Amino acid sequence: MSEVDSLLRAAAAVRMNAYAPYSRLKVGAAIRADDGRLYVGANVENASFPEGLCAEAAAIAAMIAGGGRLIAEMAVVAEGAEPAPPCGGCRQRVAEFADPATPIHLAPGAGARRSVTLGELLPLAFAAKNLPPRG
Ligand code: THU
Repeated sequence: MSEVDSLLRAAAAVRMNAYAPYSRLKVGAAIRADDGRLYVGANVENASFPEGLCAEAAAIAAMIAGGGRLIAEMAVVAEGAEPAPPCGGCRQRVAEFADPATPIHLAPGAGARRSVTLGELLPLAFAAKNLPPRG
């Protein structure tokens, strides 16, 4: 199995554990990090809707907690006829730990997967370099 296939498979597997009783859209995300390990996350909704967590944010939290620091490659799997692209907030979250060339593989429940780069998803990302100098 290719590295991309194993990443997509990990995202599809963790998607089954998503907690999405309100939207009923289960999303799974998997990261291959700079340490070579896979980190996964699923969306976790809440009765207080804004407190819900996206799958990508959950996978990033797992990566950081597990000791990974950079996203080498990422996969996001959701149901539907076409891939669900990461929300705007998650594009910015991914940009914190990836670079514009980082591949992101998007797969729907049925239909063709699509691979894009972070730079295509989020051109002109806000970054630490845009903050004023400290001191
Ligand atoms: N969702 C994600 O997990 N990732 C995204 O990038 C888009 C949306 C989740 C949030 C919510 O639980 C459900 O999908 C519907 O918006």
